[in-house]
Amino acid sequence: MLYIAPSLLAADFSDLRTEITRVEDAGANYLHLDVMDGHFVPNISFGPGLISSIRPHTNLLFDVHLMISEPLRYVGDFIKAGADIVTFHYESVEDPMATFKAIKQKEIACGIAISPKTPADVLLPFVGVADSLMVMTVEPGFGGQKLIPETLDKVRMLRRYANRRGINLMLEVDGGIGENNASYCTEAGANVLVAGSALFKTKRPRSVMAKMREAELEHPFLG
Ligand code: DX5
Ligand code: ZN
Repeated sequence: MLYIAPSLLAADFSDLRTEITRVEDAGANYLHLDVMDGHFVPNISFGPGLISSIRPHTNLLFDVHLMISEPLRYVGDFIKAGADIVTFHYESVEDPMATFKAIKQKEIACGIAISPKTPADVLLPFVGVADSLMVMTVEPGFGGQKLIPETLDKVRMLRRYANRRGINLMLEVDGGIGENNASYCTEAGANVLVAGSALFKTKRPRSVMAKMREAELEHPFLG
């Protein structure tokens, strides 16, 4: 199954409840929440306060993408705020496996993300271990960028590696994704597509999402 995760970063923040309802009604699976600290990435977005205030207004799973230094220090706050999955960046910590294990002790689904310049090999120890893996298809920090095609080679490599071992990997791609390139992502092996601008900056999110879902029929990710 293909999971679609609208990224709230591209929403109209003056009317979040309406914006979230719109993508939920359009058939989203997750709400992707980009947390940026102005340190790990050169931009600041929002924190647990905003997440807990929207939590009562939607049934979507909260996919919290931590683009912050010291994720372990703050992860508890995001769990309390209502995160269902927390993903931290491989590059943001000294010992990613230790960080992963410490987060798992808090009994939450945990993913690991890599930025475009980080090779996919670093994620191999997490295949079959982490709840999901995320390949960033743009440099983290800003919405509305163009997908970097070479990053999809990493998706392909990780999907093959998992398939050869019979592992049903949740493999997420994030950045610059929309109706015109969703099928490249699923062809490479992604089964979770994050889309900010494509779903929030359109008047017809339902039809964009339907087009994105056609990508699954063209390229079933386990095939
Ligand atoms: C980038 C974020 C993405 C971004 C996606 O740092 O992690 O989730 O908001 O937005 P679009 O789809 O506009 O590239
Ligand atoms: Zn993100």
